Amino acid sequence: MPVQTLKWQDDALILLDQTRLPQELVYETCRDVETVAQAIEVLMVRGAPAIGLAAAYGVVVGALAAKDDEPAEFQRRVKTDIDRLARTRPTAVNLFWALDQMGAVLADHASADNPTACAALLATADRLFAEDQQICRQIGRNGAELLRDGGQIITHCNAGGLATADYGTALGVVYAAQETGKQVAVFADETRPLLQGSRLTAWELMQSGVDVKVICDNMAASVLRREKIDCCIVGADRIAGNGDVANKIGTYGLAVLAREHGVPFYVAAPVSTLDISLATGDQIPIEERSAAEIRAGMGQPTAPDEVPVYNPAFDVTPCDLVTAIISEKGVARAPYAPTLRTWVES
Ligand code: MRU
Repeated sequence: MPVQTLKWQDDALILLDQTRLPQELVYETCRDVETVAQAIEVLMVRGAPAIGLAAAYGVVVGALAAKDDEPAEFQRRVKTDIDRLARTRPTAVNLFWALDQMGAVLADHASADNPTACAALLATADRLFAEDQQICRQIGRNGAELLRDGGQIITHCNAGGLATADYGTALGVVYAAQETGKQVAVFADETRPLLQGSRLTAWELMQSGVDVKVICDNMAASVLRREKIDCCIVGADRIAGNGDVANKIGTYGLAVLAREHGVPFYVAAPVSTLDISLATGDQIPIEERSAAEIRAGMGQPTAPDEVPVYNPAFDVTPCDLVTAIISEKGVARAPYAPTLRTWVES
């Protein structure tokens, strides 16, 4: 991929600062857990799989900072770090999935020396990173079969390389289709309020030579009516056991519009985004973000200073609006519950 979202280098986590794209390509070096946690909170790194990977490396950052402590104090400090990282963003289940694995490795090394525990934690974060690269490519291959040469799609937010180790989920499907010689054109919803679609998806697709046009979110209905749109493809932050999908706010509206226009609505996500412990999407915790993001979109005043604001970062698309869920394990169609369970348990 043309750009690296995050990497481990010289005992530090290096993050591409996505808040500064597309104007500036700047990497930040994180050498303490609080810096990693705040990077996740301000969306310097964002997108469900990338959040999980950043948190996994964040645990390694914390472990290295505690490596000269007594082993019991080392364990206590790294557990506190895991708790801090778990409080950053509530919706993307990949965060908790990754932290659970790091916590289990920490517990397994309760009687090991600190360097051994640190090495095991780093090996786990590296494994999750490498697996995410492979998983995204498999999602891409599975989804590419649903696209035709010359097809046009709409996507929402950014579910690309910038939201994963690289390659992406929804955009991975586009890249994989392109790699097999199919030309796919993308309409990218700008994705209010933080413009992940116009700032990130459009930028990322242009870097990869994919035909992309940005539309404001409120143009999707007209595009669906006037253009030949083959399908919508989006990512997900958490998918409940019945197939309800939490994704960036505005996804639900796009799904309703797709249904109205008879256009398939696909969700591409790794199995690590499934949360079959939740029966339906009503149980998914939805992050509410600061009013400042609406009152001053990207720094410019866009509403009266004191106006009350409602700013949920995600919405839930009911499973009956979802045509198929694409994962590294295959393509699921309704009823979702049995297939999702099989994917998680296999
Ligand atoms: O708030 P963000 O930018 O983290 O939201 C990201 C999304 O909603 C993505 O669509 C989702 O995480 C899929 S990532 C492959």
